[in-house]
Amino acid sequence: MPEPLKLVRIPTLKTPLDFRNYAASLGIDLPCEDQIVTGAASPLAQPVAGVVINGKRVGNRWAIQPMEGWDGTTSGGATEEVRRRWQRFGESGAKLIYGGEAMAVRPDGRANPNQLIIVEQNKKDLAELREMLVRAHKERYGTTDDLVIGFQLTHSGRFCKPNDKFRMEPRVAYRHPILDKKFNVTSEAQVFTDGEIDQLIERYIAAATIARDVGADFVDIKHCHGYLLHEFLSAFTRPGKYGGSFENRSRILRDIIAGIRASGNPIEIGVRLSAFDFVPFKPDPALSQPGKLGPGIPEDFSHCLPYRFGFGVSQGNPVAYDLTETFQFAALCAQLGVKMLNLSAGSPYYNPHIQRPAAYPPSDGYQPPEDPLVGVARQINVVRQLAEFVKTSTAVTVEAEAGSGDSTLQRFNVTTLPPKISIPILIGSAYSYLQEYLPHIAQYVVRNGWTDMVGLGRMTLAYPNMLADAVEKGALEKKLICRTFSDCTTAPRNGLISGCYPLDKHYATKPEAQKLKEIKKAVGA
Ligand SMILES: Cc1cc2nc3c(=O)[nH]c(=O)nc-3n(C[C@H](O)[C@H](O)[C@H](O)COP(=O)(O)O)c2cc1C
Ligand code: SF4
Repeated sequence: MPEPLKLVRIPTLKTPLDFRNYAASLGIDLPCEDQIVTGAASPLAQPVAGVVINGKRVGNRWAIQPMEGWDGTTSGGATEEVRRRWQRFGESGAKLIYGGEAMAVRPDGRANPNQLIIVEQNKKDLAELREMLVRAHKERYGTTDDLVIGFQLTHSGRFCKPNDKFRMEPRVAYRHPILDKKFNVTSEAQVFTDGEIDQLIERYIAAATIARDVGADFVDIKHCHGYLLHEFLSAFTRPGKYGGSFENRSRILRDIIAGIRASGNPIEIGVRLSAFDFVPFKPDPALSQPGKLGPGIPEDFSHCLPYRFGFGVSQGNPVAYDLTETFQFAALCAQLGVKMLNLSAGSPYYNPHIQRPAAYPPSDGYQPPEDPLVGVARQINVVRQLAEFVKTSTAVTVEAEAGSGDSTLQRFNVTTLPPKISIPILIGSAYSYLQEYLPHIAQYVVRNGWTDMVGLGRMTLAYPNMLADAVEKGALEKKLICRTFSDCTTAPRNGLISGCYPLDKHYATKPEAQKLKEIKKAVGA
């Protein structure tokens, strides 16, 4: 019987050279600089040139990624837990902040009953959260002239649990041959009709108005992780105006942006995209024991080839990516005037190892099927390819607009030319597993144009000002470094509030911490 993978833990790699040698032994390209550069010389301290967002330039090269909360009120308003998180994000030093989190555009689109909802009745709370974040940033860093804040707008689609933490109420773009079983999709009535999507688009447009009213610089239209609009990008099998061709599958984004502009709302727009996907994974039953999850293996996909049920995935071999349509979508975003393209991968629900590489699995996951550094390198490498593509293709597009013909439009199958073209800022993801070497690698990828910005997710729950420490002191507080224990995912999957239970003392003393221990012990996560 094959042995589960034995991981080399990052803290055992004592120097950048050790790290580089280990990465080389895995056959991956993950350059790691020797020293953390401090002060104005740091590549991470440079403002983002070329793109102005709501009159501002983003003041440095790290972003706080959107992270859904599980601790709002049941009507989608703020609580002390939410306020604390936003305050910490403000103190982090990041100059691009995805709100604190994803907000549902309507109550039934929530992934949990305590997610924030961006509707009129919550305007006051959202305004206060933003002000608190801005104030915290100003107190610590002196200026907010270069601080850009946005809200991620979402409908959770297949993962909706709007009323009960343990009851799925999925709504989907199309019937999926593998995921339907896992997420309790049993009837055609759970598939959104075109008319329902038309109405949902109105909710996104209304949410963008609220975001503008409460002072957000931008809204991010979430197209990642298997949530609804991401699922529409792979709705190859869906009939009607939102399925089939690339044009139809990307229609929702075009209509939302057109609607926002038609309403006279000048708010800036970002898109977070799962740039690639794989089939769903599961713990290998042959290597699973009671109290111990097995390593991940792909679900059987032999009955659904060619695989037309994912975006950015090879239809012939759906455990490999295919970026053809990803490039096409990136070009579309540029043409639509999207200012920030934030790139992620896969889904935390069905293939978490490609989405948030971790040493320890969440309770509904599996042991790593590959060294998590392979997952980090995959995302970094894809963003690098996109950076090259976006820069060259948008240059062509600008020429096309200047009157040299419409070959780019034909090339990308995009039939409408929006009034404005911009080269979006690219933000990469999945850096937290790099742990002590995160600053060394972040410096390299920014310095060499592999990405414009480095986005941090889990690390900011554990150690919000990690990169501020790196740039200011050239040193990190080891005891705060996220070790990818996945408790911040396991807790909400089991109905508890999210947070960094192992490292953030705020959670360690809560009764939820004890419950979490019991849950983890039972499943062997
Ligand atoms: C608790 C938690 C909640 C998350 N919620 C969201 C979300 O609502 N929207 C989103 O785009 N990504 C979400 N993510 C994914 C992160 O933004 C990020 O892509 C991921 O954690 C990988 O980055 P990291 O290695 O820095 O953690 C979430 C991640 C975590 C850990
Ligand atoms: S619980 Fe803390 S240490 Fe574990 S993955 Fe989340 S942020 Fe990192």
